[in-house]
Amino acid sequence: MDQRHVEGDLVLDETLFTEEEILARLKELAAEIERDYAGRDILLVGVLRGAVMVMADLARSLDRHVEMDWMAVSSYGSGTKSSGVVRILKDLDTDVSGRDVLIVEDIIDTGLTLSWLITNLRSRGPASVEIATLLRKPDAVQTEIDVKYVGFDIPNAFVVGYGLDFSEKYRNLRCIGTLAPHVYS
Ligand code: PRP
Repeated sequence: MDQRHVEGDLVLDETLFTEEEILARLKELAAEIERDYAGRDILLVGVLRGAVMVMADLARSLDRHVEMDWMAVSSYGSGTKSSGVVRILKDLDTDVSGRDVLIVEDIIDTGLTLSWLITNLRSRGPASVEIATLLRKPDAVQTEIDVKYVGFDIPNAFVVGYGLDFSEKYRNLRCIGTLAPHVYS
């Protein structure tokens, strides 16, 4: 079945990455992570809710032990623009002091959410904090962040699927693509 449809409706204008392409890229990132963290424990910190799919597939691509924990933050208000004002809705259950923390994200848009999150996590005394994101929008970035693992750089378009939503829909699409105009107009 064409992965761009939901209940018969064509949701995606264009497919940017198929499920196979996403999984292949995550496998490459996992190989880099295994090499970089050899001999060290990793605490993967997923940022709810968008990162659920990336976390599941990246963690399963790693041929080693990892721990997983989750944070939920609100970065966007009611609109679609990131404000940089971040609130913790669910904090970690894990004490990160002395830990090697790898934040797992689905997308870096303006970068404001992660910028805040890194500062917050660093204040807790971890051994290290790095970032792995599946997608990054270089043209939308408002603050420079050092991102160690990037799946794909993408144009500044509204993308959904594979964890990314529009009004809480389409997170369960297997691929990632640009939203068809009839969906939001
Ligand atoms: C998305 C994404 C990042 C953030 C990135 O989350 O998962 O956390 O936006 O945007 P920024 O770089 O402009 O700060 P969102 O707030 O949409 O919540 P969700 O993960 O629940 O979809």
